[in-house]
Amino acid sequence: MSFRNDFVWGAATSACQIEGAAFEDGKGKSIWDVYAHLPGKVFEGEHGDVACDHYHRFEEDVKLMAELGISAYRFSISWPRVMPEGTGPVNEKGILFYSRLVDCLLSHGITPYVTLYHWDQPYELYKKGGWLNPDSPKWFAEYARTVGEALGDRVKHFITFNEPQVFIGLAFVDGVHAPGHRMSRAETLLMAHHVLLAHGMASQALRACVPEVQVGYAPTSDVPVPVSDSPEHVAAARNAYFAMPENGDWSWNVSWWSDPVMLGHYPEDGLRILEPDLPLIRQDDMKTIFQKPDFYGQNIYRGIPVSAAGNGTGNKVGDGAGGWRKEKRSPGSPKTAIGWPVDFDCLYWGVKFLYERYQTPIFVTENGMSSHDWPSLDGKVHDPARIDYLHRHLRGLRRAAEDGVDVAGYFQWSLMDNFEWARGYNDRFGLIYVDFETQKRLPKDSFYWYRDVIRGNGENL
Ligand code: BGC
Repeated sequence: MSFRNDFVWGAATSACQIEGAAFEDGKGKSIWDVYAHLPGKVFEGEHGDVACDHYHRFEEDVKLMAELGISAYRFSISWPRVMPEGTGPVNEKGILFYSRLVDCLLSHGITPYVTLYHWDQPYELYKKGGWLNPDSPKWFAEYARTVGEALGDRVKHFITFNEPQVFIGLAFVDGVHAPGHRMSRAETLLMAHHVLLAHGMASQALRACVPEVQVGYAPTSDVPVPVSDSPEHVAAARNAYFAMPENGDWSWNVSWWSDPVMLGHYPEDGLRILEPDLPLIRQDDMKTIFQKPDFYGQNIYRGIPVSAAGNGTGNKVGDGAGGWRKEKRSPGSPKTAIGWPVDFDCLYWGVKFLYERYQTPIFVTENGMSSHDWPSLDGKVHDPARIDYLHRHLRGLRRAAEDGVDVAGYFQWSLMDNFEWARGYNDRFGLIYVDFETQKRLPKDSFYWYRDVIRGNGENL
């Protein structure tokens, strides 16, 4: 068995990174619209005010998607475009934009996968305390219902949250993403609890108003990749993936973010280690949070080489739950332009470990790499490293499918170069090159390569 016949081949983007039109047609401000304009926050003082101008050019972009041959497109809705204040009044022009985008996708045979939250919280809600406010799950459920009612006659696939690890972890633990201040562990754990409740309440809202809806979730984390297939290294890597580090560094922990949603409880080791800072977890909270998704998504970009403790040469990082050791990489080992290390087997092990634990059809909701691409003298954009990266990762994904993992789909990140958050326009992740001066789109070599992979349902990998 290889990829299943109905395997979903897709590409992904997010609103704040591509749409632009940040202050047009009644859209409210998001935390990123404000943060990016603060001095020193984003590389070279850039922002997403115009980005790829997709808001005005979506028809051209959908045509390119059709040429690429993707069967699904994952995009996010800008909450403040639809509800400028986050709750209450709905901006009909915002709804109309997404409605037209959805119609255009469907007319090209492309299934929309809608992410509700890809980090651009309405600034008005942030002023009310954002995710710290106990009403934040209700706000999110109201927004989910609004989107469900507007698009649910045509959109059946929704993802509640993209990478809570980042919009809580990088934003409030590390303080380097909007809104950009560090908070105490107790405060960030309370926000996380509210986000999990928001997932549950939004899932209930969508299931109540969208017939045949499929709800998903898209967290992330680096994948511990065993140094060999031998059982002790595999067990060590599995432990490393799910165990809460003894030092309480919780924000990238897979179990903390996914066990409540997928299994209905917080992980025991996390409850023990984080005990002094835990929020009040009310009796019914777990019932609300445990709205098991119909599909499980994971964004996977990177791995960490791991061996069983006692067998490796690197520093021992964690031994609370089974003993594992993070291995040192050899000097000069591959890295992408953003500086992320490359471990080709991370998709294979990532989806395998996640499927073992959560037993739910799995999507890779993001995977891809940045490189400093530019048009060559021949007018084309040659990106052989991206082709090789995607090729080897997809082979790993196919191997997982062959092993019996229920791999339902893959969304490449990203359809086109875009606003890469705090790194501005420094990193290009796209299959399509964007000239940000002229807004001209130019498919890269990887675009044509991926088109052929899709055509062959991955047989030619
Ligand atoms: C995010 C994207 C981002 C990509 C590359 C993911 O963490 O979901 O928004 O552009 O990684 O950094």
